[in-house]
Amino acid sequence: MSTNTQNANTQNTTAEQPEVRKGLYGVVADYTSVSKVMPETNSLTYRGYAVQDLVENCSFEEVFYLLWNGELPTEAQLTEFNKAGRSYRKLDAGLISLIHSLPTDCHPMDVMRTSVSYMGTKDPEHFTPNREHITHVGHNLLAQLPMAMAMDIRRRKGEDIVAPDPEKGVAENLLAMVFGNGPDSPASNPEDVRDFEKSLILYAEHSFNASTFTSRVITSTRSDVYSAITGAIGALKGPLHGGANEFVMHTMLEVDDPAKAEEWVNKTLDNKDLIMGFGHRVYKNGDSRVPSMEQSFRALAERHDGAKWVAMYENLAAAMDKRTGIKPNLDFPAGPAYYLLGFPVDFFTPLFVIARVAGWTAHIVEQYENNSLIRPLSTYNGPEQRKVVPIAQRG
Ligand code: COA
Repeated sequence: MSTNTQNANTQNTTAEQPEVRKGLYGVVADYTSVSKVMPETNSLTYRGYAVQDLVENCSFEEVFYLLWNGELPTEAQLTEFNKAGRSYRKLDAGLISLIHSLPTDCHPMDVMRTSVSYMGTKDPEHFTPNREHITHVGHNLLAQLPMAMAMDIRRRKGEDIVAPDPEKGVAENLLAMVFGNGPDSPASNPEDVRDFEKSLILYAEHSFNASTFTSRVITSTRSDVYSAITGAIGALKGPLHGGANEFVMHTMLEVDDPAKAEEWVNKTLDNKDLIMGFGHRVYKNGDSRVPSMEQSFRALAERHDGAKWVAMYENLAAAMDKRTGIKPNLDFPAGPAYYLLGFPVDFFTPLFVIARVAGWTAHIVEQYENNSLIRPLSTYNGPEQRKVVPIAQRG
């Protein structure tokens, strides 16, 4: 392994001991043809298409198809794909009863994780048998998870389920199941639907991030897709990964006054605390997805009286840049965008789950078809080998 990429995360390199890369910092673990992150040019492509290009020109379903199949669909292929996917949009009595049995104060990511685990118990295949099965599970998850999330939001407010509509796209259907079909629902505003859909495209895939890698590790043991996605959801929940979009909004609500943003940033950094929505393991000079998401956030703010949150966004980013030079990541504009659409703050990461099912399942196919068990080594730094002293003789 090259030593010119060593940094603070590389330890204990001697002639006798192998190099340790904490956090797998800078380690290249495998090949992938799903997406390419290029920090040097601050760009990201899905199957060779710039993400900004996809955001401007494609639906979420086209991007989902692209991630799975490697090519954008023709109109006929997309119609077939949507027909197949939407046929899975059936309310499941077992899932409804399970969700309603869960505590109303549990974290919504726990409901997502439990829902996927439950769906796995109903699948007759205990282990992934072939590629077609992964596609089947992907369609099932993309149909059922928006229903699970919408049901969870509504039961916490004492509201009835809104049934899925097979005529609607993923983004519009999700908004309708959460907010209903009334004139004030974002589902009834095509501009809101489109800005929301753009966020799903931006969240759909990002190479070997922690949750995708988790799904690949689980797949590498020849386990099943539901187990891989359950594990991925657990990884995504953490605030250093997907959970950051929720914590961004908690920050903005805590600061409350945009004029106090700089003081808050300085105080937080003085305390050596992290500020969520900033920094990235791969991008060190800005996240390629931020400009597109920021555009949608600003458009939502114009339509939904969100000037305060735009000022908050700008002041926090300026203060962070002035003090550290660390740039926002995708979660920074996505958090307030979801807030303006009306989603409860702790449901922001479940939205990320729904989008990322596309990337996770594409990586699960790739891992499945070219598998090697993922099993790194470690350098032991515990006590030397010793003998057990019987309990009666231990002081
Ligand atoms: N707030 C404050 N300081 C930060 C920071 C943040 N959001 N992100 C990075 N830093 C600091 C680190 O603490 C480190 O400081 P040090 O050198 O004094 O120890 C320095 O910047 C370099 O960090 P780096 O090693 O490059 O970060 P990483 O690759 O280990 O971590 C993240 C990347 C994403 C985990 C990190 O930036 C973070 O925790 N961000 C907040 C959570 C978040 O938004 N996650 C979503 C990611 S898409």
